Amino acid sequence: MSRVIVAGSGIAGLTAALHLSGRHTVTLVTKGRLGESNTEWAQGGIAGVIGPDDTVDSHIADTLTAGAGHCDPEAVRFLCEAGGDAIVSLAEAGVDFDTDPTGAWARGIEGAHSYPRIFHSGGDATGWAISTALAQKLRTEVAAGRITLLEDTMLVDILTTGAHERRQGRATGDVTATGVTVLREGRVEALAADAIVLATGGVGQLFAHTTNPAAATGDGLAAAIRADAKVSDLEFFQFHPTALPGPGFLISEAVRGAGALILDEHGHRFMTDIDDRAELASRDVVALALHRRQAAQDGRPCFLDARAVPDVQATFPSITAGLAAHGLDLSRDLIPVTPAAHYFMGGVTTDRDGRTSIHGVFAIGEVACTGVHGANRLASNSLLEGAVFAARAVDAIDAQSTHTNDADLAFEDSVNHELPLPQFGSFHQAALTRNELQALTWAHLGVERTAEGLRTLLDRLGDGARGGFVPGDGARSGDRSTNPAAPSVQALETANLALIARHMARHALAREHSLGAHTRTDTHTGTTLTSHTA
Ligand code: SIN
Repeated sequence: MSRVIVAGSGIAGLTAALHLSGRHTVTLVTKGRLGESNTEWAQGGIAGVIGPDDTVDSHIADTLTAGAGHCDPEAVRFLCEAGGDAIVSLAEAGVDFDTDPTGAWARGIEGAHSYPRIFHSGGDATGWAISTALAQKLRTEVAAGRITLLEDTMLVDILTTGAHERRQGRATGDVTATGVTVLREGRVEALAADAIVLATGGVGQLFAHTTNPAAATGDGLAAAIRADAKVSDLEFFQFHPTALPGPGFLISEAVRGAGALILDEHGHRFMTDIDDRAELASRDVVALALHRRQAAQDGRPCFLDARAVPDVQATFPSITAGLAAHGLDLSRDLIPVTPAAHYFMGGVTTDRDGRTSIHGVFAIGEVACTGVHGANRLASNSLLEGAVFAARAVDAIDAQSTHTNDADLAFEDSVNHELPLPQFGSFHQAALTRNELQALTWAHLGVERTAEGLRTLLDRLGDGARGGFVPGDGARSGDRSTNPAAPSVQALETANLALIARHMARHALAREHSLGAHTRTDTHTGTTLTSHTA
């Protein structure tokens, strides 16, 4: 039995905590309420191969192609082979997948899939169904005393052995995590742990336009960067082509899968001029085409035309309701659409079992870079990744378990008064406000990038301490006698976003050629095939 802290409560965090429950002392920390995450907002569904007419090899091939040759093929194989079982497990956990007239689970199609293999619930409320079912199970575990749940608790830092010495060049060798610091009720606390599972999700709030909820500020990734964990593929951020301009409300690719078209302001269906797959080309292709057409129209949006889609309102009830709130009718109106930041392919580098470069730290779901998405994630592979790699990480944690045989190890044993706390005196306010940062990243780290723009962004972000924590503050002080004045959640989030922006911009500057979702307009723009690199 080990003390395990799971940070985040999307599909990855919930799945991991549920699998760990009963065998380890599990504490789940989540910044808002349980389940508040990108998972909850996911509309399209979860991809997987179930049924005789589809094949795992086809799902693998589609994932590799969408990833622009940058995926880790072995990780992709793990993902796709496990897809069917993961979906069945979710159904067993209470997710009510939609059925077709024969009573079989209905399957939708989305961009760059060769077969209909997207399973959905409530039409377009798959994420909500998954989140609700898993959160309910988790609350049962909490009530039974098998999991400690800390809502409104933000992960601040990962505490490691020898971090300070390592930065001074005085230590080499493996780094081991000893716990985390969290911010709750305005105080910073240190929690000791044998294993830490980062499942903190994405970082869409880095951009002025995003489909992500407010919580998506990359807290786990920023903590990992400060702890010197290895990160990779930070230049690859996916922009979803069809969000409502302004609020960023997502109009699922599943609507295009059902037949909706993309039109420019003159009513021309331009995707047929660009790719044989037209509206169902891979997401990077559609987002770039839409972005460029919009620029050619002096920024005026293009449109999604779903008027000819049969039963469109009944098929997509959440989208229908969301658009109605903005005075739009999916069955009658042309819906203005624009690309918006959606999903981060990069993240904390992991092996195929979620292990990071820090012993005892695991990363799963969107915060991780497992290599399954390459330079552009295939639609509806993200919920699948969260479920599949959470289960794999749990097996790895079981294997590393310290076997203390202390069945009575309680959460209280984790609140460790010996562990060092961050010294927020050395915390610097971000050099930019959140709005300034978001506008700059949209301009320079958005759908199209240039070296000049990336350098401008880096200049504005500053370097060294400006715009974030001094790395490793958490490892410097052993003085637990006072709890230094903690910054607000909002200030920590903005510092995290600024830190991530710096790393993303550096990666984007270093990759001079376009690949997948990373488009450099100042250099050769053809796709260069490379393998996934850490
Ligand atoms: C969508 O419904 O279009 C988004 C699904 C995904 O991001 O995979």
